[in-house]
Amino acid sequence: MPESITITDNRTGESVEIPITDGGVESGPWTKLLPGIWFKDEGFSATAITNSAITYIDGDAGQLEYRGYPIEQLAEQSTYLEVAYLLVHGELPTTDQLDAWVHDITYHTYIHENFKQRMFGAFHYDAHPMGMLTAGAAALSTFYEESKDIDDPDLRHRQIVRLIAKMPTLAAGAHRYSQGWPFVYPDNDLSYTENFLSMMFRMAEPSYEADPVLAKALDQLFILHADHEQNCSTTAVRVVGSSHADPYSAVAAGCAALYGPRHGGANEAVLNMLDEIGSFDNVDAFVESVKNGDGRLMGFGHRVYKNYDPRARIIKETAHKVFEVTGKNPMLDIALKLEETALADDYFISRKLYPNVDFYSGLIYQAMGFPTEMFTVLFAIARTSGWLSHWDEMLERNTRIARPRQLYIGEATRDYVAIDAR
Ligand code: CMC
Repeated sequence: MPESITITDNRTGESVEIPITDGGVESGPWTKLLPGIWFKDEGFSATAITNSAITYIDGDAGQLEYRGYPIEQLAEQSTYLEVAYLLVHGELPTTDQLDAWVHDITYHTYIHENFKQRMFGAFHYDAHPMGMLTAGAAALSTFYEESKDIDDPDLRHRQIVRLIAKMPTLAAGAHRYSQGWPFVYPDNDLSYTENFLSMMFRMAEPSYEADPVLAKALDQLFILHADHEQNCSTTAVRVVGSSHADPYSAVAAGCAALYGPRHGGANEAVLNMLDEIGSFDNVDAFVESVKNGDGRLMGFGHRVYKNYDPRARIIKETAHKVFEVTGKNPMLDIALKLEETALADDYFISRKLYPNVDFYSGLIYQAMGFPTEMFTVLFAIARTSGWLSHWDEMLERNTRIARPRQLYIGEATRDYVAIDAR
């Protein structure tokens, strides 16, 4: 006997039985029984926007898997580009497939010279790099007219390669512009993260040699940020993509959503918060102020995780490896005390608020030399593969355009009043 639910319309006594499939119920029978009655779900807390075969999260258990592979194993044993392949294609690559994929990404890293001269040049010197990245992603669509053909799987794949390849170039370009430094062209002899570090930090040296521990740590952080199922920015990508806009425009929407401090902007907000706390001794007072409703503890809490975010656990370990190379980030002690205090406090315990992916990542980025405003940009680079896997999966299934309903609570019909009679 398949599991089901029954909904009864108490106005008419009519009922409908809806089978529970894959942990959800279809809205179709509901709509048929209750035309014009909408299910109100602000923030989509109880709405599954789709079926998806990409990422699995068990928020109570603190478990995360990409295509069935536990995040801990991928973070330990894989590389970001291999994980990107897995997300996009559904399976881990063979050696030949991985070589071809890495080659393709490596040879699509260049961006048009107009970007350097005109696009970045149009920004004020202190423009936030997330604003530049968002604009840059959208601008790419104007260079690739073919990207509008979203029905052709090969063309979709080409744009996916281009976007994964070019996001680091755009990101580093935004940073160098804000510093007034010359742009550094991609170096095809380097790995994905080494090349990004080279484009970010290379100065007069003929070639850039990244510290292997730091390059590996960044690669691991990219793996941890690569996908997180239907989060705010992925939903933004899906909603824009559902109108059949090109993938560059959809990814720009993802960047815009990620920018906010409740989502990807939290890593930057964590550092600003630690800065504001200033010293170990101020932690208790800060936690009290949060409990009294004065702001939030940034890097804490999650819509899905009601347990320790597994990514935060891995990042905390990585932080120690990075600090052996860079020296300890002086903010670490404040962060550790903050975590300890919050995890022992009933306010946080009763609401199941634990450190999330952003709590420790900023400390690592800062120790590596990234300015605070680049933190969300790093998240965006990594999340691009996840966004595009969902975009591709959605188009493969020919999903309908995203178009929710509303419960109207405004004025009833009334007549226009001429301005001199108001
Ligand atoms: N500090 C203090 N209180 C919090 C926090 C926090 N960080 N997060 C949630 N709460 C409280 C909130 O005030 C509410 O309390 P009450 O029931 O008394 O009103 C309760 O916990 C539930 O909060 P909510 O706003 O209903 O939870 P949500 O699922 O809508 O929000 C969240 C999830 C991530 C936006 C939120 O926890 C938050 O703002 N956290 C801080 C920002 C942050 O770290 N974001 C990064 C998320 S992980 C990376 C990513 O996915 O981008």
